[in-house]
Amino acid sequence: MPADRPIGIHDLSFSTTSLVLTHAELAAHTGAALGKYHHGIGQKEMSVPAVDEDIVTMAADAAAPIIERHGAGRIRTVLFATETSIDQSKAAGVYVHSLLGLPPNVRVVELKQACYGATAALQFATALVHRDPTQHVLVFAADIARYELDTPGEATQGAAAAAMLITAEPALVEINAPSGLFTHDVMDFWRPNHRTTALVDGKKSLTAYLTALAGAWHDHRAHHGPPIEEIHTVCYHQPFTRMAHKAHRHLLETAGTPADTATIEHAVAPTIRYNEIIGNSYTASLYLALAALLEEDDKLDGRTLGFFSYGSGSVAEFFTGQVTPGYRTALRTRAHREAIARRSPIDYDTYRRLHTQPPHTDGGRHALPHRTRGRYRLAEIHDHQRIYEPAPTRGETHPATEGP
Ligand code: HMG
Repeated sequence: MPADRPIGIHDLSFSTTSLVLTHAELAAHTGAALGKYHHGIGQKEMSVPAVDEDIVTMAADAAAPIIERHGAGRIRTVLFATETSIDQSKAAGVYVHSLLGLPPNVRVVELKQACYGATAALQFATALVHRDPTQHVLVFAADIARYELDTPGEATQGAAAAAMLITAEPALVEINAPSGLFTHDVMDFWRPNHRTTALVDGKKSLTAYLTALAGAWHDHRAHHGPPIEEIHTVCYHQPFTRMAHKAHRHLLETAGTPADTATIEHAVAPTIRYNEIIGNSYTASLYLALAALLEEDDKLDGRTLGFFSYGSGSVAEFFTGQVTPGYRTALRTRAHREAIARRSPIDYDTYRRLHTQPPHTDGGRHALPHRTRGRYRLAEIHDHQRIYEPAPTRGETHPATEGP
């Protein structure tokens, strides 16, 4: 039998794209009041991928510092969660495995269930480590959120990848065993295989999210998960950050401890720093909320955190974790802030041009210009194959906004 040791998130690193569109720039063209974006939905900026960036380049960029710190020798499994898949057959994680130079004796698979996929990956990873606590599992959550231009969803786009190393004796957060689960067949948000943008029933999606939150919470309590009074802060999936406020209000009411607006604002504030300037990153969003919280609050030693993961369609999970004493020494605050600061602002016309660029589907050779500021790039698409490479080092000047 394996030893009964704590298992959870040992390292957490994220990356985003090299371009950013501000909501002020977006509002100037959509005619929306800026207050609607900044306060009504709680978004200030959103990451936009350059032509040589995708889920693979972001994921490799996020994980490279983890491999540098811990080595790759104990990684036996790579789980890649995404709903922005680049291939119907080959797992995106296989490209990342190659870019990072991971050893061949590793299993790599891709998981999908909208924004929930990474939480399934995290739970599967803890089970694998429980079976053999000497092994490490590398979990990815990587997505690019894309809606049609000129739709209400447009203001809730974004992109990022989170990489997490799941181990025994984790340095950041131990994942607790009781979980609350909820699945309900609902058409609130979906993307058929032939589409590059999501379809959504916005209002229905808000209700579906809150219904799933209550359902997962009740199941969490039924499985002896801790009561609300014992949970210090809850990290929510944040398709837009105002959703976390709505969710927290709903959870407190469901748990029988309603609170005023100021209390809710205060509780949610430390979890939204990254999501409000990156936008919806689907699978990664919940784990960006965790990164923000751990970096913002230096008094979490031993505290119980709550996590609510929601994936449209829908599957949801409420679970908890214990913050490891001394967690601050394992954080990557500077690197995360640099990843955000290195983004180049683009104007509305550039955003629109990038958004409407057709995918390369003719099987010809399409060399892509070097635009990313990350460590890896999509160099070309040739014969329907995606060719990735480490990005050459570039000087201070950055033609990220030159097109296409
Ligand atoms: P909308 O119609 O553009 O916005 O859609 P609205 O008219 O409902 O306004 C939004 C809020 O802004 C309202 O506040 C307004 O009052 C306020 P609320 O009533 O909600 O409290 N407002 C203002 N506030 C201040 N100053 C002003 C002002 N004007 C208005 N001047 C919607 C918004 C979120 C529906 C849209 O953006 C959308 O469809 N987004 C995509 C769907 C989505 O994010 N759903 C979230 C739940 S589903 C989910 O989380 C899963 C997902 O991540 C996908 C996956 O799982 O893979 C999406």
